[in-house]
Amino acid sequence: MAGTQLSLATHLVRLESETDFDGWRDAARRLATNDVTPQDVAWRVEPDADRRDGDLPACSPDSRLVVPREFIERAERTICHSDPERFGFLYRLLWRLRAEPKLLSIASDPDIRRLETMEKAVGRDIHKMRAFLRFRKIGAGEGERYVAWFEPDHFIVERNADFFVRRFTGMRWTILTPHASADWDGERLAIGPGAAKRDAPAEDDTETLWQTYFGSIFNPARLKVKAMQKEMPKKYWRNLPEASLIPDLIAGADRATSAMIARMPTTPAPHHAKVQARHWPTPRPAEADDIESVDTIPALREMAKSCHRCPLWRDATQTVFGEGPENAEVIFVGEQPGDQEDLAGKPFVGPAGKVFDGILEHAEIDRAKVYVTNAVKHFKFEPRGKRRIHSKPNAGEVQACRWWLDKELDLVKPKLVVALGATAALSLLGKAVPITRMRGQVIERDDGLRVFLTIHPSFILRIREQEDKEAERERFLGDMRTVRRLMAA
Ligand code: URA
Repeated sequence: MAGTQLSLATHLVRLESETDFDGWRDAARRLATNDVTPQDVAWRVEPDADRRDGDLPACSPDSRLVVPREFIERAERTICHSDPERFGFLYRLLWRLRAEPKLLSIASDPDIRRLETMEKAVGRDIHKMRAFLRFRKIGAGEGERYVAWFEPDHFIVERNADFFVRRFTGMRWTILTPHASADWDGERLAIGPGAAKRDAPAEDDTETLWQTYFGSIFNPARLKVKAMQKEMPKKYWRNLPEASLIPDLIAGADRATSAMIARMPTTPAPHHAKVQARHWPTPRPAEADDIESVDTIPALREMAKSCHRCPLWRDATQTVFGEGPENAEVIFVGEQPGDQEDLAGKPFVGPAGKVFDGILEHAEIDRAKVYVTNAVKHFKFEPRGKRRIHSKPNAGEVQACRWWLDKELDLVKPKLVVALGATAALSLLGKAVPITRMRGQVIERDDGLRVFLTIHPSFILRIREQEDKEAERERFLGDMRTVRRLMAA
């Protein structure tokens, strides 16, 4: 329940639920157009209240309220925060916006800083739910369905439910959380009351599937326990079948480096036909002004998490941003994340990444010292049965994502960029180039940046004949040796 200084307030707003944005918006409009100050309003969540707006004045016809669209989008996101004061806080912002129309762009204002912190917390929680929620199967045949238990920090179930509908359209599933539940029967999404953990099943056959998957993508060579725990706080471990592997994996990481698991992961969960995209409140897209002021890669990565510059974000698990030192001398640019990168949130960790790593090592290029990214930051795929099949990004998607790549180049300021394949070359040079004919060449862009052209490592994976495969591997190794020489020059 949320309530503020009821004894002093002259108006009480009763909202239907913790995420009743329409109720908040309607009340805020009525109050603001009647000049009711923020101090005179108390906000409460009362799901069973009969009359919600009886105490509130109707919108005043004499007062025009113009609210920037950006505020509405940000308020809609912030209302999912668990801070009980958020309704009053948002009304205060709305109130201030009437006299200070540029308020949202004043990053140093304490209210704006608070808004930003709250939005980020909600965004992180949404991301964690997408990454760490695990369904468990109950029933069989006609009665088969999947149930998951999750404990978000904020009221994000409604906001996130559409993602799970798109991702698991062909399954019947229910997500239970303490605050709300979401149920998809294959056709209809229903949001219901919260539940208790005991309502969710504890174990099933999919446990081993997840464990296989997690064991396979786990790369001991790159293990950073602190970073991993930050990304996957212990709180979430309880509900993850694969988490039972974590202590062993951490313990064995040092000695396991050389014997890294090379198995291909099993597809983690069913991905089915996409549903028609329906309207759902979306996170605020990054604004041009914001990116201007970003001056570090971590800040840029954070901003890219809510990228909606093209529709690919809808079906992808998360934005897969570039990785590597900010002062790297060389940037390698791939095409787009694949299935495993999408789940792990890191570039080049799947099969093509393993080929790439092996050849870099052979060419004596330390991957830890280079920056690796992609032309397109979201996984584009076609669902085929339980698998997600890579689908090439189109020119519009490449163009939309150049926004991020350009800024990565701008911040890292590499001596050399390596275009791995045609999509990367298109993004870096702004035009299509015949890679097989031009590989090995360095093209200097108008801004002086040198771009080395070569194939994408997945090309090697696709060659069937062993002899041809070996020959192509050697050629790619030759290209990487040239890159090393160019780096040293
Ligand atoms: N292919 C790419 O281009 N990038 C990745 O991150 C993985 C596969």
